[in-house]
Amino acid sequence: MFFNSRIIAFLLGFIIAIISSVLLVITINLSFNGFIFSFLLIFLSSCLLIFLALNFFVFKEINEIYLLLEKIKKKDYQIPKKLQEDEGETSNPLILIKREIADFAKKKEQEIDELKKLESFRREFLADVSHELKTPIFAAQGFVHTLLDGAIDDLEVRDRFLGKAANSLDGLNVLVEDLITISQLEIGEIKMNYQHFDIYKLTVEIFDQLEDTALKRGTKLRFYKYSPKSCYVYADKMRIGQVITNLVVNAIKYGKEKGLVTVSFVIENESVFVSVKDDGPGIEAKHLNRIFERFYRIEKSRSKEKGGTGLGLAIVKHILEAHDTKVFVSSKAGEGTIFSFKLKKGKVINENG
Ligand SMILES: Nc1ncnc2c1ncn2[C@@H]1O[C@H](COP(=O)(O)OP(=O)(O)OP(=O)(O)O)[C@@H](O)[C@H]1O
Ligand SMILES: [Mg+2]
Repeated sequence: MFFNSRIIAFLLGFIIAIISSVLLVITINLSFNGFIFSFLLIFLSSCLLIFLALNFFVFKEINEIYLLLEKIKKKDYQIPKKLQEDEGETSNPLILIKREIADFAKKKEQEIDELKKLESFRREFLADVSHELKTPIFAAQGFVHTLLDGAIDDLEVRDRFLGKAANSLDGLNVLVEDLITISQLEIGEIKMNYQHFDIYKLTVEIFDQLEDTALKRGTKLRFYKYSPKSCYVYADKMRIGQVITNLVVNAIKYGKEKGLVTVSFVIENESVFVSVKDDGPGIEAKHLNRIFERFYRIEKSRSKEKGGTGLGLAIVKHILEAHDTKVFVSSKAGEGTIFSFKLKKGKVINENG
């Protein structure tokens, strides 16, 4: 290119030296020798300063751009800290290009992190599914083989083993059903069937169904004393029933023995705030974000003992997301847990006719 930093410095230096020397001749009547001397001095010093300034500002930026591109070429998307903090306003095109490249590298790094996370999530999920499926299949297989190996002749053993095999297969069925529900909710295959219904009445029915489960642990199921005795919401009745059942069953299973489970409804303008509270051992903060993940159980062995596969809260989360709302959890170890969510307020209708 014709205009390199040396030629620019030379031309600018020449123009500055001529103008300044002529001005000196006019203002202080400089002699010819003085004129030559001042011209040379101004010319040389401005050439040098302009050359250094151009090199410093332009080449420094270009060098950084070059290093960034080298890093990207080697698939290293880590941006130097200095560049990440370089946020000041500028119109310098070189700095702008450098920022664009840094932005690109940052986005690439985020994409790669996301892909890595998805990959490890997929691997974990596959391992979890196989493990969860394996357990009931192995158990049922064991009982059937024992029967085939001769135990079938003992009527009492036959009935007991067949009962156990049937239980394992029922568990397997629940697991597969839950997995299908989650994947259908995830891909949006299940459409919510919205209707106006009384969530209080629905919860009374759920309490009735769970009476035996609660009785076994001595748990009391109650409504919050100031909750209205009728509360209409606009939602999918069957799915919200599933959400409340999951939350109440969890509160019974993981709450303390002879504990208290309280369901409350608070009507606020256009929404109804629903919460399920227990007075059990609570959930430590480090688990709170993860309990909605598929198969996540806090104490794998203890939850397993209680018959859980860790899919209940994942289903709750998906159902509420399909209602354009979210589930919240607040808990302190030793002080119980509250799960809550908001629903759209419904119109009061006569459900019997
Ligand atoms: N009210 C609660 N108090 C304490 N821990 C809880 C509570 N609710 C859930 N958890 C913890 O969160 C985990 C995940 O709950 P989730 O309902 O998803 O699975 P699960 O109850 O183990 O199995 P599933 O609901 O599929 O039968 C549970 O295993 C339990 O450790
Ligand atoms: Mg559960």
